[in-house]
Amino acid sequence: MSQSFAEQVEDVRAAALEALDAAAGPEDVEKARVEFMGRSRGRLKDLMGLLRKLPAEEKKTAGRLVNQLKKQLTEAFEVQKKGRSGALAAGAGVDLTQPAARLEVGHVHPLTQTFEELQEVFGSLGFSCVEGPEIETEHHNFDALNIPSDHPARDSFDTFFLDSGGLLRSHTSPTQIRVMESGPPPVRVIVPGRVYRPDAVDATHHYCFHQCEGLMVDEDISFADLKAVLNMAMEGVFGPGTRTRFRPSFFPFTEPSAEVDVSCIFCGAEGCRICKRTGWIELLGAGMVDPAVFEAVGYDPERYTGFAFGIGVERLAMLKYQIPDIRMFTDNDLRFLEQF
Ligand code: DAH
Repeated sequence: MSQSFAEQVEDVRAAALEALDAAAGPEDVEKARVEFMGRSRGRLKDLMGLLRKLPAEEKKTAGRLVNQLKKQLTEAFEVQKKGRSGALAAGAGVDLTQPAARLEVGHVHPLTQTFEELQEVFGSLGFSCVEGPEIETEHHNFDALNIPSDHPARDSFDTFFLDSGGLLRSHTSPTQIRVMESGPPPVRVIVPGRVYRPDAVDATHHYCFHQCEGLMVDEDISFADLKAVLNMAMEGVFGPGTRTRFRPSFFPFTEPSAEVDVSCIFCGAEGCRICKRTGWIELLGAGMVDPAVFEAVGYDPERYTGFAFGIGVERLAMLKYQIPDIRMFTDNDLRFLEQF
């Protein structure tokens, strides 16, 4: 039994939609378009030919069917051309049950996390956070910090000098000077930031790293305040029960000066591989602000006292997270960064 005209229209409709659905790309779509909608030999055109041969009384209904099909296919091809969003709007050829593409969630860099933690811990002790320029003057990086040009201590803070006359700061201490130059005591700030040294790069050295400076100045600030603040801060960073130890040292901008160790967080100060069996880990430099620094910024050293400290941020993060190589912070290796 031969097919009715309506059945043939349905066949063409099903075949065209199927071809569109199976199309893997624009070339397949174009091929299907030529097959079904082509002006000279398309299957729609064939239907038109058949339509003309139908008896007059059937022509009206059959014509309507062909027109509907033409309209539907034209729209379907249009939608395919416009792509997925168009297809969604038309509800054609879209699998709404398909799982969505996985969204990658970024990670805060471990150094940024460490800075945020320091900011929180010192913030809770009343320290506000300020930043200073990375391109500094000799006055701020050296002279005002009691490091005159003929003093051997300049070597420890050697840096890159710029043709413009400036230099890349070799520590965050110059921002102490800027803060004090900008207003009278009391001062209670931390200064996170990037610093530069002409050091060869290895597992523990880099020509560019980060420090967090601290400065507190007021009347009657004593070494006991320094110890109390650093004790509380280190407990905040490394957990309750962490202790600090102060060893005599020298920095030109503090007198007295100290190297500060924290009790080893890995063995509870029992002695292990990480603390080299000493129970202590060297972490930062600190001291009471030298009167010469107060004089350089116009503070009265008879009236004011204060303390300062400088923390190596990579060093702190390396300890806390057991990171074996300073270069990992800048390698941009996702396998490393995704762990934080
Ligand atoms: N600026 C010193 C350095 O880069 C660290 C430091 C030590 C900062 C003692 C201080 C301080 O403020 O009091 O090695």
